[in-house]
Amino acid sequence: MNILVVGSGGREHALCWAIEASPLCDRLYCAPGNAGIAAVAECLPVAADDVEGLVVLASEKAIDFVVVGPEQPLVLGLVDRLAAAGVKAFGPSASAAALEGSKSFMKGLCARYGIPTARYATFTDAEAAKAHVRAEGAPIVVKADGLAAGKGVVVAAGVEEAEAAIDAALLEGSFGEAGAEIIVEECMTGPELSFFVLADGETVLPLAGAQDHKRAYDNDEGPNTGGMGAFSPSPLLTDALRRRVMAEIIEPTVAAMKAEGAPFKGVLYAGLMLTPDGPKLLEYNVRFGDPECQALMVRLKSDILPALIASADGALSTVDLRWRDEAAIVVVMASKGYPGAYRKGTPIKGLKKAGETGATIFHAGTASTDDGGIVATGGRVLGVTALGATLGEARDAAYRAVDAIDWPEGFCRRDIAAAALSAARAEEGA
Ligand code: AMP
Ligand code: GLY
Repeated sequence: MNILVVGSGGREHALCWAIEASPLCDRLYCAPGNAGIAAVAECLPVAADDVEGLVVLASEKAIDFVVVGPEQPLVLGLVDRLAAAGVKAFGPSASAAALEGSKSFMKGLCARYGIPTARYATFTDAEAAKAHVRAEGAPIVVKADGLAAGKGVVVAAGVEEAEAAIDAALLEGSFGEAGAEIIVEECMTGPELSFFVLADGETVLPLAGAQDHKRAYDNDEGPNTGGMGAFSPSPLLTDALRRRVMAEIIEPTVAAMKAEGAPFKGVLYAGLMLTPDGPKLLEYNVRFGDPECQALMVRLKSDILPALIASADGALSTVDLRWRDEAAIVVVMASKGYPGAYRKGTPIKGLKKAGETGATIFHAGTASTDDGGIVATGGRVLGVTALGATLGEARDAAYRAVDAIDWPEGFCRRDIAAAALSAARAEEGA
């Protein structure tokens, strides 16, 4: 089969890496890809949000199956446009992608079908939103309705901070169109867990659990980012919790989407908070997490491609995915300054040496130079990914590879999985 992966991040490198290994894959293309992806796929210069360009590309290259990585083209209707052109694709339709594309749609669905999530109200008027915040008190959470690239959420410790976030979104347009409507919701507490399933409109297949590290710096300090590292499995995800999340959150959602005439196909990624009252939904994403995907792909023993195709075909009940017992860790290396302003084009050396340690280096924002070098082109640049018999061994292996990379303009967190490791140690000692 000829396969096209859409996107250019670490998630798409991991997907290409896994798909290229499939015996079903004859030719693999990626649009637009990056310097790391170019080692496993032919990169084509069409942007991930250029829906029309991608439809043309799929027909030019006789693509049999498209795998869409990021949310934006899904929300823009790429899968619908490809279907109209007779090309099968992995991912939800635009109406099903609204689970991520519109938080008020997602919250409304939860309310109608009794799916546990934070209490909320939606607003387009700043004065009404501020009156609500004053009545509720802090801490309280203000969110943009639409896609805001991970920047649309303010967890406000005080009423004034919440009011400022409301003004910024509704009066100053700081989230752009995405913030023309906002959600004000109850601030929940508890550990966070990323829960991934494949769905085919009806059948749901849970994937391995993973945890992300959203803050930029060690000890969960600094600004929120797209994710600075991940690990899998998550010690938080027990079998009992998996069953509960499936029964109370995931299965009701997939059934609700079908009932609403927008059956969900693709990866459904629930951001969960494990509150004192049980697991509750923070948000839905309609694609793999980045960097969680990198950890999942190196742990997957089965061929991913038949599972992705079965999701599109409504045939997931025939799929059984096998996972390695080993743990996986991804350490993200980012450009200094990320998630704020950063320099582009800084040279990265030592990638070969890092790969020789046994780690897999997924590229997220890189380009090749004419003389064969690699430069950083994005905020998140590399996802250094390693397996180990234990989470501790995986962590040591990942940081050995990180230490082999010579990139003075980059930084990473040094505490990926540290909290999970010390919790595990405390349990052993108990
Ligand atoms: P989201 O993009 O909706 O997942 O929000 C980003 C981050 O903000 C989450 O990972 C949480 O850490 C935090 N957050 C979002 N909603 C809430 C909430 N209702 N209560 C507490 N924290 C939240
Ligand atoms: N790692 C978080 C995300 O992909 O949204």
